[in-house]
Amino acid sequence: MPKRLAGKVALVTGASRGIGRAISIALAKEAAQVVLAARSRRGLRETAEQVKNAGGKANIVVTDLTEEDSIKNLVTVIGKNLGQLDILVNNAGITHSAKLEETATADWDRCFQVNARAPFILCREALPLLRKAAAAYIINIASVVGIKGYPLQSAYTASKHALRGMTTSLAEELKGSKIRVHLLCPGGVDTELVQRVRPDIRKEDLIQPQEIAELVLYLVTHKGNAVVDELHIRRAASSPWF
Ligand SMILES: NC(=O)c1ccc[n+]([C@@H]2O[C@H](COP(=O)([O-])OP(=O)(O)OC[C@H]3O[C@@H](n4cnc5c(N)ncnc54)[C@H](OP(=O)(O)O)[C@@H]3O)[C@@H](O)[C@H]2O)c1
Repeated sequence: MPKRLAGKVALVTGASRGIGRAISIALAKEAAQVVLAARSRRGLRETAEQVKNAGGKANIVVTDLTEEDSIKNLVTVIGKNLGQLDILVNNAGITHSAKLEETATADWDRCFQVNARAPFILCREALPLLRKAAAAYIINIASVVGIKGYPLQSAYTASKHALRGMTTSLAEELKGSKIRVHLLCPGGVDTELVQRVRPDIRKEDLIQPQEIAELVLYLVTHKGNAVVDELHIRRAASSPWF
Protein backbone atom coordinates (compact mmCIF):
# COMPACT_ATOMS: atom_id res chain seq x y z
CA MET A 1 0.00 0.00 0.00
CA PRO A 2 1.41 3.49 -0.80
CA LYS A 3 2.48 5.47 2.25
CA ARG A 4 -0.10 8.13 3.05
CA LEU A 5 2.29 10.94 4.05
CA ALA A 6 5.00 10.53 1.40
CA GLY A 7 6.45 13.93 0.46
CA LYS A 8 5.10 15.60 3.62
CA VAL A 9 7.12 17.33 6.33
CA ALA A 10 5.90 17.18 9.94
CA LEU A 11 7.18 19.05 12.99
CA VAL A 12 6.58 17.47 16.40
CA THR A 13 7.48 19.35 19.59
CA GLY A 14 8.22 17.39 22.74
CA ALA A 15 9.56 14.59 20.55
CA SER A 16 12.27 13.48 22.98
CA ARG A 17 9.97 11.01 24.79
CA GLY A 18 6.37 10.07 25.60
CA ILE A 19 3.48 11.02 23.34
CA GLY A 20 5.67 13.15 21.05
CA ARG A 21 7.96 10.20 20.36
CA ALA A 22 4.98 7.95 19.53
CA ILE A 23 3.47 10.59 17.20
CA SER A 24 6.83 11.06 15.45
CA ILE A 25 7.21 7.34 14.80
CA ALA A 26 3.62 6.98 13.58
CA LEU A 27 4.00 9.89 11.11
CA ALA A 28 7.36 8.57 9.91
CA LYS A 29 5.91 5.10 9.30
CA GLU A 30 3.60 6.77 6.77
CA ALA A 31 6.72 8.28 5.13
CA ALA A 32 6.50 11.83 6.48
CA GLN A 33 9.89 13.45 7.05
CA VAL A 34 9.71 14.30 10.75
CA VAL A 35 11.41 17.22 12.46
CA LEU A 36 11.93 16.39 16.12
CA ALA A 37 12.10 19.29 18.60
CA ALA A 38 12.78 19.34 22.36
CA ARG A 39 15.63 20.32 24.71
CA SER A 40 17.18 16.88 25.26
CA ARG A 41 19.51 16.02 22.38
CA ARG A 42 19.87 12.54 23.83
CA GLY A 43 16.10 11.96 23.89
CA LEU A 44 15.76 13.33 20.37
CA ARG A 45 18.54 11.01 19.14
CA GLU A 46 16.74 8.02 20.68
CA THR A 47 13.52 9.04 18.90
CA ALA A 48 15.42 9.55 15.62
CA GLU A 49 16.91 6.07 16.00
CA GLN A 50 13.43 4.58 16.50
CA VAL A 51 12.12 6.53 13.50
CA LYS A 52 15.00 5.14 11.42
CA ASN A 53 14.31 1.60 12.64
CA ALA A 54 10.69 2.07 11.54
CA GLY A 55 11.94 2.95 8.04
CA GLY A 56 11.44 6.72 8.37
CA LYS A 57 13.51 9.90 8.20
CA ALA A 58 14.01 12.40 11.02
CA ASN A 59 15.81 15.70 11.57
CA ILE A 60 16.70 16.91 15.04
CA VAL A 61 16.45 20.56 16.08
CA VAL A 62 17.28 21.10 19.76
CA THR A 63 14.77 23.72 20.90
CA ASP A 64 13.84 25.39 24.16
CA LEU A 65 10.21 26.40 23.78
CA THR A 66 10.48 28.94 26.61
CA GLU A 67 12.78 30.99 24.34
CA GLU A 68 11.14 32.91 21.48
CA ASP A 69 14.42 33.00 19.51
CA SER A 70 14.77 29.23 19.82
CA ILE A 71 11.25 28.75 18.39
CA LYS A 72 11.97 31.16 15.55
CA ASN A 73 15.23 29.31 14.82
CA LEU A 74 13.31 26.01 14.62
CA VAL A 75 11.05 27.36 11.87
CA THR A 76 13.95 29.03 10.07
CA VAL A 77 15.91 25.75 10.00
CA ILE A 78 12.90 23.88 8.58
CA GLY A 79 12.39 26.53 5.89
CA LYS A 80 16.06 26.52 4.96
CA ASN A 81 16.73 22.77 5.05
CA LEU A 82 13.39 21.28 3.99
CA GLY A 83 11.60 24.20 2.32
CA GLN A 84 8.13 23.08 3.40
CA LEU A 85 5.95 22.24 6.38
CA ASP A 86 2.69 20.31 6.11
CA ILE A 87 1.97 19.18 9.67
CA LEU A 88 2.65 21.01 12.95
CA VAL A 89 2.07 19.07 16.17
CA ASN A 90 2.27 21.27 19.27
CA ASN A 91 2.75 18.43 21.73
CA ALA A 92 5.37 19.59 24.27
CA GLY A 93 3.94 20.31 27.68
CA ILE A 94 4.79 20.55 31.36
CA THR A 95 2.76 20.21 34.53
CA HIS A 96 2.82 21.64 38.00
CA SER A 97 1.08 20.00 40.94
CA ALA A 98 0.26 22.16 43.94
CA LYS A 99 -2.64 23.86 45.65
CA LEU A 100 -3.28 27.27 44.09
CA GLU A 101 -2.27 29.00 47.33
CA GLU A 102 1.06 27.14 47.20
CA THR A 103 1.73 27.75 43.49
CA ALA A 104 4.64 30.13 42.90
CA THR A 105 4.20 32.75 40.18
CA ALA A 106 7.28 31.30 38.44
CA ASP A 107 5.62 27.85 38.21
CA TRP A 108 2.44 29.42 36.80
CA ASP A 109 4.52 31.35 34.23
CA ARG A 110 6.49 28.25 33.21
CA CYS A 111 3.29 26.30 32.51
CA PHE A 112 1.99 29.16 30.38
CA GLN A 113 5.33 29.59 28.58
CA VAL A 114 5.53 25.97 27.41
CA ASN A 115 1.85 25.01 27.14
CA ALA A 116 0.27 28.17 25.70
CA ARG A 117 2.84 30.81 24.66
CA ALA A 118 5.09 28.43 22.71
CA PRO A 119 2.26 26.94 20.57
CA PHE A 120 1.06 30.50 19.86
CA ILE A 121 4.53 31.64 18.71
CA LEU A 122 5.10 28.44 16.75
CA CYS A 123 1.75 28.70 14.95
CA ARG A 124 2.44 32.33 14.09
CA GLU A 125 5.97 31.65 12.84
CA ALA A 126 5.02 28.46 10.95
CA LEU A 127 1.94 29.85 9.18
CA PRO A 128 3.84 31.25 6.16
CA LEU A 129 5.26 27.76 5.47
CA LEU A 130 1.98 25.97 6.24
CA ARG A 131 0.10 28.29 3.84
CA LYS A 132 2.30 27.05 0.98
CA ALA A 133 1.24 23.42 1.53
CA ALA A 134 -1.51 21.85 -0.60
CA ALA A 135 -3.16 20.73 2.66
CA ALA A 136 -1.78 21.54 6.10
CA TYR A 137 -2.63 20.56 9.66
CA ILE A 138 -2.05 22.08 13.07
CA ILE A 139 -2.63 19.61 15.89
CA ASN A 140 -2.50 21.00 19.40
CA ILE A 141 -2.29 18.56 22.29
CA ALA A 142 -4.25 19.90 25.24
CA SER A 143 -5.64 17.59 27.93
CA VAL A 144 -8.76 16.74 29.87
CA VAL A 145 -7.57 19.60 32.08
CA GLY A 146 -8.16 21.91 29.10
CA ILE A 147 -11.88 21.31 29.45
CA LYS A 148 -12.62 21.05 33.14
CA GLY A 149 -10.98 22.00 36.41
CA TYR A 150 -8.76 19.65 38.41
CA PRO A 151 -7.64 20.21 42.01
CA LEU A 152 -3.91 20.76 42.60
CA GLN A 153 -3.39 21.56 38.92
CA SER A 154 -4.52 25.18 38.54
CA ALA A 155 -1.44 26.39 36.58
CA TYR A 156 -1.48 23.37 34.24
CA THR A 157 -5.27 23.53 33.86
CA ALA A 158 -5.34 27.26 33.14
CA SER A 159 -2.54 26.97 30.57
CA LYS A 160 -4.36 24.17 28.71
CA HIS A 161 -7.60 26.20 28.74
CA ALA A 162 -5.56 29.01 27.17
CA LEU A 163 -4.24 26.62 24.51
CA ARG A 164 -7.79 25.51 23.73
CA GLY A 165 -8.93 29.14 23.43
CA MET A 166 -6.08 30.00 21.08
CA THR A 167 -6.78 26.89 19.01
CA THR A 168 -10.49 27.60 18.55
CA SER A 169 -9.77 31.22 17.56
CA LEU A 170 -7.11 30.17 15.05
CA ALA A 171 -9.46 27.55 13.58
CA GLU A 172 -12.01 30.33 12.96
CA GLU A 173 -9.35 32.57 11.41
CA LEU A 174 -8.23 29.79 9.07
CA LYS A 175 -11.73 28.63 8.15
CA GLY A 176 -11.94 28.20 4.38
CA SER A 177 -8.15 27.99 4.00
CA LYS A 178 -6.18 24.81 3.28
CA ILE A 179 -5.02 24.62 6.91
CA ARG A 180 -7.05 22.56 9.37
CA VAL A 181 -6.69 23.12 13.08
CA HIS A 182 -7.39 20.36 15.63
CA LEU A 183 -7.26 19.91 19.37
CA LEU A 184 -6.69 16.61 21.18
CA CYS A 185 -7.68 16.34 24.83
CA PRO A 186 -6.34 13.10 26.32
CA GLY A 187 -6.83 11.69 29.81
CA GLY A 188 -4.05 9.74 31.53
CA VAL A 189 -1.41 8.46 29.09
CA ASP A 190 1.43 6.13 30.08
CA THR A 191 4.37 8.59 30.10
CA GLU A 192 6.77 10.21 32.59
CA LEU A 193 4.38 13.15 32.95
CA VAL A 194 1.48 11.11 34.29
CA GLN A 195 3.76 9.30 36.72
CA ARG A 196 4.47 12.71 38.27
CA VAL A 197 0.94 14.14 38.41
CA ARG A 198 -1.26 11.04 38.75
CA PRO A 199 0.76 8.26 40.40
CA ASP A 200 -2.60 7.00 41.76
CA ILE A 201 -3.71 5.72 38.33
CA ARG A 202 -2.84 2.05 37.73
CA LYS A 203 -0.34 1.68 34.89
CA GLU A 204 -2.53 -0.95 33.20
CA ASP A 205 -5.42 1.58 33.08
CA LEU A 206 -3.43 4.25 31.25
CA ILE A 207 -3.84 5.05 27.55
CA GLN A 208 -0.81 4.04 25.48
CA PRO A 209 1.04 6.88 23.66
CA GLN A 210 0.55 4.94 20.39
CA GLU A 211 -3.22 5.30 20.81
CA ILE A 212 -2.87 9.09 20.74
CA ALA A 213 -0.52 8.80 17.74
CA GLU A 214 -3.14 6.78 15.84
CA LEU A 215 -5.66 9.59 16.32
CA VAL A 216 -3.18 12.16 15.02
CA LEU A 217 -2.62 9.92 12.03
CA TYR A 218 -6.37 9.79 11.42
CA LEU A 219 -6.62 13.60 11.48
CA VAL A 220 -3.80 14.15 8.99
CA THR A 221 -4.74 11.38 6.56
CA HIS A 222 -8.54 11.54 6.52
CA LYS A 223 -9.87 12.32 3.06
CA GLY A 224 -13.38 13.61 2.59
CA ASN A 225 -15.65 16.37 3.78
CA ALA A 226 -15.86 15.41 7.46
CA VAL A 227 -13.69 17.33 9.93
CA VAL A 228 -13.17 16.49 13.59
CA ASP A 229 -12.33 19.73 15.40
CA GLU A 230 -11.63 18.33 18.84
CA LEU A 231 -11.13 14.85 20.21
CA HIS A 232 -11.71 13.92 23.84
CA ILE A 233 -9.84 10.72 24.67
CA ARG A 234 -10.39 9.15 28.06
CA ARG A 235 -9.18 6.06 29.85
CA ALA A 236 -11.73 3.27 29.54
CA ALA A 237 -11.67 3.00 33.36
CA SER A 238 -12.66 6.67 33.83
CA SER A 239 -16.15 8.21 33.75
CA PRO A 240 -17.71 9.12 30.39
CA TRP A 241 -16.97 12.76 29.52
CA PHE A 242 -14.17 12.40 32.06
N1 LIG B 1 0.64 11.88 29.86
C1 LIG B 1 -0.60 12.28 30.06
O1 LIG B 1 -1.35 11.68 30.86
C2 LIG B 1 -1.17 13.44 29.30
C3 LIG B 1 -2.56 13.63 29.34
C4 LIG B 1 -3.11 14.70 28.65
C5 LIG B 1 -2.30 15.55 27.94
N2 LIG B 1 -0.96 15.34 27.91
C6 LIG B 1 -0.16 16.30 27.14
O2 LIG B 1 0.56 15.60 26.14
C7 LIG B 1 1.76 16.29 25.85
C8 LIG B 1 2.94 15.32 25.93
O3 LIG B 1 3.01 14.83 27.25
P1 LIG B 1 3.80 13.52 27.70
O4 LIG B 1 2.90 12.80 28.59
O5 LIG B 1 4.40 12.86 26.53
O6 LIG B 1 4.91 14.23 28.62
P2 LIG B 1 6.46 13.95 28.85
O7 LIG B 1 6.76 12.51 28.72
O8 LIG B 1 6.82 14.65 30.11
O9 LIG B 1 7.12 14.71 27.60
C9 LIG B 1 7.04 16.12 27.51
C10 LIG B 1 7.81 16.58 26.30
O10 LIG B 1 7.79 18.03 26.27
C11 LIG B 1 9.12 18.49 26.07
N3 LIG B 1 9.35 19.79 26.70
C12 LIG B 1 9.07 20.16 27.97
N4 LIG B 1 9.51 21.41 28.20
C13 LIG B 1 10.08 21.84 27.04
C14 LIG B 1 10.74 23.04 26.63
N5 LIG B 1 10.91 24.07 27.47
N6 LIG B 1 11.21 23.13 25.37
C15 LIG B 1 11.07 22.07 24.51
N7 LIG B 1 10.46 20.93 24.83
C16 LIG B 1 9.98 20.82 26.08
C17 LIG B 1 9.99 17.41 26.72
O11 LIG B 1 11.28 17.42 26.14
P3 LIG B 1 12.62 17.93 26.88
O12 LIG B 1 12.46 17.71 28.35
O13 LIG B 1 13.68 17.11 26.22
O14 LIG B 1 12.72 19.38 26.50
C18 LIG B 1 9.26 16.14 26.32
O15 LIG B 1 9.65 15.72 25.04
C19 LIG B 1 1.84 17.45 26.84
O16 LIG B 1 1.38 18.63 26.24
C20 LIG B 1 0.88 17.03 27.95
O17 LIG B 1 0.35 18.12 28.65
C21 LIG B 1 -0.37 14.31 28.57
